[in-house]
Amino acid sequence: MSFLRVLAIETSCDDTSVAFVRDDGWVDGVVSANQDLAHSPFGGVVPEIASRNHTLTILPLIETLIQKTGIKWADINSIAVTNRPGLMGSLMVGVVTAQTLASAHKLPVIGVNHLEGHLLAPFLKDAEYAPPETFEAPYLALAISGGHTQIYDVAEVGEYFILGKTIDDAAGEAFDKFAKMLGLPFPGGVFVDREAKKGNTKSFEFPRPLTRQAGYGDSLDFSFSGLKTAALRLIEKMSLEERVAAQADLCASYQEAIVDILLSKLDTAYKLYGHKRVVLTGGVSANSRLREKASGWAKKKGIDLIVPPIRYCTDNAAMIGFVGAQKLKAGLVNKNIAPSPSSFADDFKSADNQGGR
Ligand code: KG4
Ligand code: ZN
Repeated sequence: MSFLRVLAIETSCDDTSVAFVRDDGWVDGVVSANQDLAHSPFGGVVPEIASRNHTLTILPLIETLIQKTGIKWADINSIAVTNRPGLMGSLMVGVVTAQTLASAHKLPVIGVNHLEGHLLAPFLKDAEYAPPETFEAPYLALAISGGHTQIYDVAEVGEYFILGKTIDDAAGEAFDKFAKMLGLPFPGGVFVDREAKKGNTKSFEFPRPLTRQAGYGDSLDFSFSGLKTAALRLIEKMSLEERVAAQADLCASYQEAIVDILLSKLDTAYKLYGHKRVVLTGGVSANSRLREKASGWAKKKGIDLIVPPIRYCTDNAAMIGFVGAQKLKAGLVNKNIAPSPSSFADDFKSADNQGGR
């Protein structure tokens, strides 16, 4: 066979996902189970519930994937599994499953950094999606989800410079916590986005912490906790009736602040690094207002904006499989795949190491 294929397993947070992916990016199949209903009553992910559900769904999902694609164990070259960063109990389920299957089928196991998966998601291909023919590194990537908010310079596949990150909450967390204040379901970002469509972005004034507008110059770090606290103070002062009546306007104004913060960082990174390709990835990149404003910004600056389809933006095993296949191709099969709640020290370089960049 002229390509390498991996079975990929992703269980770093609350989504259980498995996929068959080739090193050219082709996704043979991906099967996922989300746990939104299980975590919804708590307004956020409960780690114990997440890991317990992974143990129940992981093997049936792999069975379904095999049946759906008709791919046999003999057609697989390796198993790739997310082993960092994430919830320890959740990561453990994926890693133990990968190790057990690898030993039964005599396959190498590759540990993958979840964030590297998000960064390379635009390279995935299937019957409905392919990146533009010209798409390649270098590019700027904004990885925004419930657990992370970072901006990277992807110099090449395997070489990443972290330019900035959140100093408190993640962008998705800022959406989810705000939704919880309003009594909206989990995951909140989806419902805030929906409500915001009916509201006015200028009805309420929310802060844009750490941005140029707030006097922070070219900082590429993000902060959302001041915004969240401002929303809490405002909502606390409202009666239930006032809050319900203002719900759409609150959502529109709050969402606008998050979108403005994200775009202000992208604009600063573009000014400093000048890459003509920009990728949005992670669950928050599904946000309709962000997509609208980012595409207007990109058009104005002559930038190619690439936003993978939502199925590859939210947590999924296909992106993990692509990273695993690149590592397999490069002979980078790691021996230690023990789960780790944080990234390894050498996964990402700091921007200060970039010399002339
Ligand atoms: O990447 P993801 O599926 O999982 C994590 O790694 O966290 O991202 C989930 C996050 C949640 O915080 C959710 O509220 C947010 O993505 N999200 C959205 C939208 N869809 C999902 N946030 C804003 N607007 C959306 N349309
Ligand atoms: Zn993620």
